[in-house]
Amino acid sequence: MKPWRELARARADGGGVLSLHRRDDEVVVRVDGQELMSTRRHGSEDRLAEVGCAGLVAPRVLIGGLGLGFTLRATLALLDGAEADAGAGAGTVVVAEISPELVAWNRTLVGAGAAAALADPRVEIRVGDVADAMATPGRFDVILLDVDNSPHALTRPGNQVLYGTRGLATARAALGPGGRLAVWSASRHPDFERRLGAAGFAVEVHGARASGGRGSSHTIYLGRKPA
Ligand SMILES: C[S@@+](CC[C@H](N)C(=O)[O-])C[C@H]1O[C@@H](n2cnc3c(N)ncnc32)[C@H](O)[C@@H]1O
Repeated sequence: MKPWRELARARADGGGVLSLHRRDDEVVVRVDGQELMSTRRHGSEDRLAEVGCAGLVAPRVLIGGLGLGFTLRATLALLDGAEADAGAGAGTVVVAEISPELVAWNRTLVGAGAAAALADPRVEIRVGDVADAMATPGRFDVILLDVDNSPHALTRPGNQVLYGTRGLATARAALGPGGRLAVWSASRHPDFERRLGAAGFAVEVHGARASGGRGSSHTIYLGRKPA
């Protein structure tokens, strides 16, 4: 088997080193040598978009963060489908990504699909904290949050606030009536489930496999704000 080739590296926002690697047609992002995201396994990242956007026509979507762009691409595919079915408007997608390097790598090094998604006219890239992108009340119909390994396994210490009472209230306020907050997690966390309910969301828990119905089983929390 061919060895991994490092394509680029940068300082990660929370300290540590972010690096991009390729072997044959597989690309991975690592933080301090630990895999954060791979092009081989993205079933649950795609599923995050499906759970969050199911049945919506032309939604205003916020995605945090970009990673290797699978949630973004799955969201755009769903918007394409809904647009064709309903002959409705296109919808919009804001992507908040804390790492400017990761945005640049998606444009240049990850692959043609990743670059095309960022160039889509429906997509706006905001380099910065997803918490700041939620500042305007009622701005979104859907928030897809995949910035950590779970509400307990954070990629940067500042992300803790996103999963607490204050962060969930901010997310709820950023959603319009009937809006949805979908959160990716490697596993179930009953305390987070309770907090989501206490923040005024109707809570659903969805399982999602890492690759094609196989691989690790991940969890997607869906919080629905009342209409
Ligand atoms: C697991 S990856 C996301 C994977 C993505 N769903 C995909 O389809 O490839 C997590 C991403 O969140 C970013 N991130 C971490 N904390 C963030 C924050 N507070 N705001 C915005 N982006 C953040 C990381 O730099 C990384 O790109």
